[in-house]
Amino acid sequence: MKKPRFKTPTGTHDILPDDQPYFQKIYNVCENIASFYGFKKIDTPILEETELFSKGTGLTTDIVQKQMYVLKTKGGDYLTLRPEFTPGIVRAYIEHGMQSLPQPIKLYSFGPVFRYEHPQAGRYRQFHQFDIEVIGEESPVIDVQIINIFYNILKELKVKNLAVEINSIGDSQCRPYYKKLLANYLRSREGALCADCRRRIRENVLRVLDCKEEKCQRIVSQAPQIIDHLCEECHSHFKRVLEFLDEIEVPYRLNPYLVRGLDYYTKTIFEIFSEEKSKDESDTKDFPVKNALASGGRYDNLVKMLGGDNVKAVGCAMGVERVQSLMRTRGLQLKKQETYPVFFAQIGNLAKRKGLKLLEEFRGVKIPIAESLGKDSLKAQLGLADKVGAQYTLLVGQREALDGSIIIRDMKTGRQDTVKLDKVVKEIEKRLR
Ligand code: HAM
Repeated sequence: MKKPRFKTPTGTHDILPDDQPYFQKIYNVCENIASFYGFKKIDTPILEETELFSKGTGLTTDIVQKQMYVLKTKGGDYLTLRPEFTPGIVRAYIEHGMQSLPQPIKLYSFGPVFRYEHPQAGRYRQFHQFDIEVIGEESPVIDVQIINIFYNILKELKVKNLAVEINSIGDSQCRPYYKKLLANYLRSREGALCADCRRRIRENVLRVLDCKEEKCQRIVSQAPQIIDHLCEECHSHFKRVLEFLDEIEVPYRLNPYLVRGLDYYTKTIFEIFSEEKSKDESDTKDFPVKNALASGGRYDNLVKMLGGDNVKAVGCAMGVERVQSLMRTRGLQLKKQETYPVFFAQIGNLAKRKGLKLLEEFRGVKIPIAESLGKDSLKAQLGLADKVGAQYTLLVGQREALDGSIIIRDMKTGRQDTVKLDKVVKEIEKRLR
């Protein structure tokens, strides 16, 4: 085959017709479960003001520092292809005065997000998320309801060996003290850390906790843990989160090194994994990191930071491609053989013209009808009629085209009847009833 001149940009991919049933299935399950729990759909623009993300997602995050697709418009504004949904949804909440509606506001969204990442298994530059946000509620029960929603979505999609990892990263009361404590501990061992972590001590010390370098992990394993330094309020919030999780019997494990890569989180953070390998991972010899299928947490300061009231919130997003890859690995067959009750076959130009009109009549009465108007060979057309499982083939040859009739062939018995062309839709309706 000739090498194609154009290819998808690095880290992006086509969602081909064969992939569509997986996406459709994922969206249907997400939408059903979200609606059951009272969530309403929202669509926000793919492009937002760059400052929304630098403020919202956070200046010290990899997303803002390295991964945003920023463009300057002809008018001189800086816009960014959304790298995540949360800041855009919070912006919409504030912009449309949703604060004055009964709280909480429960929203969900689907769509593409963009991050200039190093592409690898399960890591793309354009991928899709299903995202939900509950804005205007501070109770820990909502943190758990969100975990439960994603856990159930993944279970319903038949993803196996699910594991929830959870942690609390405190709030502005207790986190600054813990960060100082951690930085002091790390500074005394700075020489043994990787170059990135040496920088992180000054810029974003919590990120040292989830460094994948072995030498850093060794040092981190002896570091003070935030759980032991939470303030009264964060401690009690987290305790209740764990109690609710026990109640609904969602298996979880505490991961004191879970920090998440976004600046807005407060208190609860979590990630949901599957401990089975996806197609992407089995294609890659040394799969470097385990990939979360869904992740989220509480963000009690973001609404205020973006100009709204002091409103608490929590949310989570799921990576659609990662889930699809797992479904494919398990060979989950979603593609159904398409069947049509009726097939239209024709010979000659006049018959093709009659066919164009007839197909519209069938569409009008909602009877699916397959055709292959471009083909001339009757044999090829009858072969297709068999393939789509047609009960009846309607045939217009040259003679029928001239005298305004059509042959109805019963594909099971082989019996053929000729009827007037303008009576055929009614006749087929009667036979299919
Ligand atoms: P996130 O952890 O950055 O969180 O992304 C959520 C999910 O998107 C991940 O768990 C993963 O499944 C998927 N994902 C992330 N990056 C990639 C990538 N490069 N390629 C493929 N899939 C990826 C957020 O985006 C937060 N906005 C979630 C949230 C909502 N927190 C509160 N509300």
